[in-house]
Amino acid sequence: MMINLENVTIARGGNIVLRNISLAIRPGEFIGVLGPNGAGKTTLFRAILGLQPIGSGTISVFGAAPTSGSPAIGYMPQTRAGQSGQSLCGFDVLANAATGHHFGLPLISPAIKTEVTAALKAVDAESLAARPLAALSGGQRQRLLLAAALLGAPKLLLLDEPLISLDPAAQASIIALIHRLQQTHGLTVLFAAHDINPLLGVMDRVLYLSGGNAALGTVDDIITTQTLSKLYNADIEVLRAAGRIFVLSDRPDHHHACGHDHA
Ligand SMILES: Nc1ncnc2c1ncn2[C@@H]1O[C@H](COP(=O)(O)OP(=O)(O)OP(=O)(O)O)[C@@H](O)[C@H]1O
Ligand SMILES: [Mg+2]
Repeated sequence: MMINLENVTIARGGNIVLRNISLAIRPGEFIGVLGPNGAGKTTLFRAILGLQPIGSGTISVFGAAPTSGSPAIGYMPQTRAGQSGQSLCGFDVLANAATGHHFGLPLISPAIKTEVTAALKAVDAESLAARPLAALSGGQRQRLLLAAALLGAPKLLLLDEPLISLDPAAQASIIALIHRLQQTHGLTVLFAAHDINPLLGVMDRVLYLSGGNAALGTVDDIITTQTLSKLYNADIEVLRAAGRIFVLSDRPDHHHACGHDHA
């Protein structure tokens, strides 16, 4: 298994975020990680990265306890860095990430130059390398951050809402890119998102978090009226139309919280 959780409970700020979760993710799987705000998607990623202590249970990643700073894991955090250093160009942002990650050298060595160039090429962002971050669109910046997550040839990608603030065309292009990388490099991908629809063609399975619970399975198994109502502990209705999935709730406080399209 690539990732294994057994009876994992995690609390943050005195509240239980994930309660007695067990799940196993296989190498090479593309997992869509869904769930309302505060469900624990980011917390789970941080636990897999070894950044979030767990209350009880065990987590193994690559067959061992999580260790922070593993180059085998590429992480694209939800809270985007890069607010500072906006005058840096794309190449320098990646070179800083590369040196910070595994080399610890203040100068850009030929090896880093090669690695950064390869990462830029992988996300079709060579043309962005020389431009200052401040002069890039949100989608272009997201491409660079994805390139940063690819440094060090990771086997596992944890992408925390990479679609945020992207238009549908940019969403489709990022998804296609990650899908291609997953297929060609045999990567395992955990992809957190708020709308399941853009991921329908590329996901192997979906991990749905809500109310401290987790459900992992195929879209057909998990995104159903019965399974989601149980997970949310509320009346949820799943409708399918025109190849899209709509998750509906009668409870007004869930209308925005559940984050899906509402008919
Ligand atoms: N630094 C923190 N200290 C205390 N509690 C926190 C902290 N960060 C997050 N939490 C709480 O942990 C819970 C899970 O948060 P998390 O960020 O994992 O959710 P999420 O599923 O990623 O949500 P979103 O869709 O908004 O990104 C929430 O109740 C949140 O308020
Ligand atoms: Mg989050």
